[in-house]
Amino acid sequence: MLPDVSLTPILAPSLLAGDHANLAAATDLTASLGLAWLHIDIMDGHFVPNLTFGPQTVAALRPRTKLFFDTHLMLEEPQRYVEAFAQAGSDLISIHIEPSFDHRATLARIRALGCKNGLVLNPGTPAAAIEPFLGDVDLVLVMTVQPGFGGQPFRTDLLPKIEQISRWRQERGLSFRLEVDGGVDLDTGAQCRKAGADTFVAGTSFFRASDPAAYAAAVGRW
Ligand code: DX5
Ligand code: ZN
Repeated sequence: MLPDVSLTPILAPSLLAGDHANLAAATDLTASLGLAWLHIDIMDGHFVPNLTFGPQTVAALRPRTKLFFDTHLMLEEPQRYVEAFAQAGSDLISIHIEPSFDHRATLARIRALGCKNGLVLNPGTPAAAIEPFLGDVDLVLVMTVQPGFGGQPFRTDLLPKIEQISRWRQERGLSFRLEVDGGVDLDTGAQCRKAGADTFVAGTSFFRASDPAAYAAAVGRW
């Protein structure tokens, strides 16, 4: 069966690669190009060895834009924070499968708060780990690097995992978005698109692009 590439491609620039002294500029650039999504990485120094933003950052950016805030929680205890991010203005909140907490209840809670939900897998986590949740998610995020830092090389060995999840989606008639994050650029992103991904997080490659508008247009043609 061919991978399902019917969902319109979405480019989600990652705020992590923007200027941290001027996050408003990164947000405004994304909106000015007509893009719809902004990816916001939240790290707690426990689940990943880095720290980034909090709900206050999301709340501060919220009044500037109607961009869809795709909030990626890299937290050991995300269930403690979903309410704060929903109140801050996140549109989608994704949680990792790896830490121990009640994933099903947290996914339901995110929806009850009026947000879309997402489930994320690290490179070392098999697709089977999220398979029981596929009917209850708006987005699956396949990490194509070990999370924690931007600027790492894309891992092509994860393409079969994207294909597998895309196949399940098609076989079951589901419509969650399939997102990739880490080392995505116009070359690796196109490979993910062929594997069935439809939503592309790009940090370094987007914010360092000589022509971000041309970059965004190229993704739109995938
Ligand atoms: C990594 C983050 C990514 C990061 C990607 O832990 O989840 O969203 O911003 O950055 P690039 O695109 O530079 O790999
Ligand atoms: Zn991310």
